[in-house]
Amino acid sequence: MEQHHRGQWGSNLGFLLAAVGSAVGLGNIWGFPYKMGVSGGFAFLIIYLILAVLVGFPIMLCELAIGRRAGRSVLVSYQQVDKGMGTFLGFLAMLSPFLILSFYTVLGAYCIEYMSLNLADMAFGVAAMAGMSGGDTFGAMLTNQFGSIAFTFVFIFVCFLIIRGGIKDGIEKFNKIGMPALFIMLVIVIVRAVTLPGAGEGLAFMFAPNFEPFTNFKSFLSVLSLAGGQMFFSLSLAMGITVTYGSYLSKKESLVKNSLIIIISDTLVAIMAGMAVLPAAFALGGADSAKAGPKLLFITLQDVFNAMGPAGPMFGVIFYLLVLLAAITSAIALLEVLVTFLSDRVALKGRTPNRKKLVTIVCLVVFAEAALVAADGLGSNGLWIPFNSTGRPLGSTWLDFMDFISEGVAMPLGALLMSFWIGWLVGPKLVRDEVELENHRMSSGLYGFFNFCIKVIVPLAMAFILYGMVHDFVTIPPQ
Ligand code: PFF
Repeated sequence: MEQHHRGQWGSNLGFLLAAVGSAVGLGNIWGFPYKMGVSGGFAFLIIYLILAVLVGFPIMLCELAIGRRAGRSVLVSYQQVDKGMGTFLGFLAMLSPFLILSFYTVLGAYCIEYMSLNLADMAFGVAAMAGMSGGDTFGAMLTNQFGSIAFTFVFIFVCFLIIRGGIKDGIEKFNKIGMPALFIMLVIVIVRAVTLPGAGEGLAFMFAPNFEPFTNFKSFLSVLSLAGGQMFFSLSLAMGITVTYGSYLSKKESLVKNSLIIIISDTLVAIMAGMAVLPAAFALGGADSAKAGPKLLFITLQDVFNAMGPAGPMFGVIFYLLVLLAAITSAIALLEVLVTFLSDRVALKGRTPNRKKLVTIVCLVVFAEAALVAADGLGSNGLWIPFNSTGRPLGSTWLDFMDFISEGVAMPLGALLMSFWIGWLVGPKLVRDEVELENHRMSSGLYGFFNFCIKVIVPLAMAFILYGMVHDFVTIPPQ
């Protein structure tokens, strides 16, 4: 069936920038450095890299192939492989972006607020932070419910303006400018960070071999699930987006090459973000501040900018702007999963989808759930939270709760089922047939590797990751 309403990427470069834009987000700039900080630096890096090759690559290839094969939304793409399992996996894959958006947009709003804070300090020298530590600033922001909700609205509105333009004239166009800008700003921040006195320790923490976390099974499992969850989130896997973006890809393009480029770029940016954040935290706050966990981005780093002297606010502006750009390019991808779903549903009923209307509906619904997370202010405002009567079971904040259901359960479960489904029930040949279109040969060595990973390594790794996620979530107190 002709799909005029859908459109397509303008070029393969446009697709790649958008796919890398979706992958490079808060996960890279916030999640990767702080998770590396709390789990032994180098050990985390090594496990992450191994998982990216053995688990990330096969899943990404499957998702791109399934999406491009059908040229439809994630639900229909999965259903075209097999109706029963496809329907379940399709809905599971849409649940994650929907829940992730509830907090991703709030974190994006925090980036706008922090950028404004540093901008005000740069402009008026109010030392916005006159005497205020990073922790005070963060606390003041979280308890200001109106501000958080208003900036969440602003963040979603910016995303709305971008995606209502469509795949080529909205998403692709924004990423073509946003991604190179992000890269340049990241390089500037790295140069500043690694030239701070004492930054060497941070670099050593990241790159000097250290296998201590591997000496006992429990800590190994912890690092494995943390790195595995991070890898999935960071590469935007099992969340419908790679299938959705793949569905707009031309049959001429190489899926293997594109998968590798996305994985390598995303990993490179995560490591670069580590080099921007960890050495600065080590230099200005010592080893302990690098282990600050989720607070690293908004508390520790603000303290770093405060301590940098007159140029501090300027680096603050550049840094939070770059995180904001990363958040926008990812949030528009998450929103597009839902928009494409609705739009293809309308088209399948024989009507022409009204993209602007659908984008408006999706943005409004997302704003409603995000307002709740914003009002909660990471648990600062005493809002009721589900299942929290005993302190932890499903989260101590609305953000934790949404994150646990999406990143902790839906995503690893979806990837586990998908690998089993494609590997053992449908058969990996389906992926090979799509990869080999238009004379793109998949060598027998590569196919053998893919076949083994999707049948054995991915299900095993995902089972461990799922177990580790649930176990850690239920037993480790929130940070
Ligand atoms: N990969 C993004 C990050 O690292 O922040 C998060 C994300 C974006 C996940 C888009 C899923 C997605 F569809």
